[in-house]
Amino acid sequence: MTADLGLRSLDNASSDTEAIPGTRKGKFYVFEGIDGSGKTTVSRKLFERISQESRREVLLTVEPTDCWLGDSVRRSYDEDVSPFTEALLFLADRATHTERIKNWMSEGIIVLCDRYNPSTLAYQGAVLRRTMGDAALEWLNMVSKHVVIEPDIVFLFSISPEKVMQRLDERDETTKFEKLEYLKEVDSIYRMLAEQDRKFFVVDATEPVDEVVNEVVRAIKADLM
Ligand code: TYD
Repeated sequence: MTADLGLRSLDNASSDTEAIPGTRKGKFYVFEGIDGSGKTTVSRKLFERISQESRREVLLTVEPTDCWLGDSVRRSYDEDVSPFTEALLFLADRATHTERIKNWMSEGIIVLCDRYNPSTLAYQGAVLRRTMGDAALEWLNMVSKHVVIEPDIVFLFSISPEKVMQRLDERDETTKFEKLEYLKEVDSIYRMLAEQDRKFFVVDATEPVDEVVNEVVRAIKADLM
């Protein structure tokens, strides 16, 4: 699903905001979590709250994006592609998305982003680690280095893979088991990133949605002051 709420045409704007220190006028908040963590619902509610409560322009954007590169990512779900191809498709989509995000930020916009680079580290990292070991994350970090920007805060919606599997209605036990094992690997990478990166803010996603939203709004307001 894609959504650029509040999107404006920015086709010709410059894209080198971060090259000059101090030119980062906007804010960039990223929302992450395993499938079923409620991240998308919370992101939409957050967009409404921040738009109402801030005088600044706010925009919600989503990965995979709504452009043709995002379409290629979605198309790859039904194709037999290698883990490397899959990772590079997500990164190609992100490279273009990052340029758009930089443009929005140069206009002072508060950008809310539903999934960004940590998703690739966690999801593609989990798959690549099976064949590459620890080199998987190093490789992903190396390839993504020049196509990502640093978020102000990464909100990680934390919930156990076992709990989300209860929420997901899947009858096939084999698929369910494979999915659980995969989500456990994804979750372990997310946790590792959260421990290593001080930009991460872990939110308890088992709380009622409105409480989760309130906690994130408080953190964003504190950061905006
Ligand atoms: P999404 O539509 O955000 O699902 P949800 O709303 O349940 O969070 O994400 C689509 C899927 O794409 C999700 O399973 C995670 C995956 N994904 C990656 O594997 N790598 C990435 O870099 C991104 C952005 C998403």
